[in-house]
Amino acid sequence: MSNGIAVRNLTLEVGETQIIRDISFDIPAGQITGLAGESGSGKTMTGMSICGLHPKQGRRGGSIAFEGRNLLDLSEREMNGHRGKDIAMIFQDPTASLHPMLRIESQLTDHLRFHEGVSRRAARTRAISLLGSLQVPDPSSALRKYPHQFSGGQLQRIAIASAMICNPKVLIADEPTTALDVTVQAGILRLLRGLCDEFGLAILLVSHDLGVMSAVADTLIVMRHGKIVESGTRFDVITSPQEPYTRALIESLPSVVSPTVDSPAQTSTATRFEAK
Ligand SMILES: Nc1ncnc2c1ncn2[C@@H]1O[C@H](COP(=O)(O)OP(=O)(O)OP(=O)(O)O)[C@@H](O)[C@H]1O
Ligand SMILES: [Mg+2]
Repeated sequence: MSNGIAVRNLTLEVGETQIIRDISFDIPAGQITGLAGESGSGKTMTGMSICGLHPKQGRRGGSIAFEGRNLLDLSEREMNGHRGKDIAMIFQDPTASLHPMLRIESQLTDHLRFHEGVSRRAARTRAISLLGSLQVPDPSSALRKYPHQFSGGQLQRIAIASAMICNPKVLIADEPTTALDVTVQAGILRLLRGLCDEFGLAILLVSHDLGVMSAVADTLIVMRHGKIVESGTRFDVITSPQEPYTRALIESLPSVVSPTVDSPAQTSTATRFEAK
């Protein structure tokens, strides 16, 4: 099993601008690592740098260790082999992960057939089973439809299916629930938690919303101006933040969040979101 990803002294410069400034953290297998921070703090660029999707003109420094290799040393071709297969990414807007003109079937199965040489029939069977486990209603007819025929929440589930179809070891989820209403959000977060617990997936969950994080993440990292200003278990970060910036973020949360934080013993379940 993979041990996840270890980011060490990562930097990203675009032109003269230092976007990521010497950050180090782990994304361990079987855990959700939450990455929070205000808009523009560098969360998306961190996720993109891990997947090799940072701006082309940007320069990365440091190391990103995955299965004994530094991802920064890989050629574009080698990185393409990992991306979508071992390391998958989902975005805030599910339409960004899906092609508007292609049926769901080919969006899910082309991927699998390209990376793993699986037959059309076997790929279809896997797609149906995955959509079913992600609670997309009527999976076989869903495969015949186009993205515009689904609601936002269903589309995000399909985008997650397209990320999960090759059994990735690492999932970078960038604001996967921000565009969704609260109940749908809860379902998706529970689902991510389940994938993590069941398959030992290493998840980096990016969100500007510490409330979302306090519900599902095992550990929390807070970024500001391209640096990590705080990290620790979600319990420690939420209950005794060390940095004034994190304190301000927590104080700005609805008052229900801090007093209802679970004890560390309960960290593996999204208890705040049990409502259907
Ligand atoms: N393609 C790009 N080229 C150059 N700079 C960029 C590019 N995309 C983002 N940036 C800059 O990188 C910095 C970090 O942006 P990033 O998108 O990572 O922030 P974020 O924390 O994800 O914010 P948000 O919560 O709004 O999504 C910002 O200053 C932004 O202007
Ligand atoms: Mg972002």
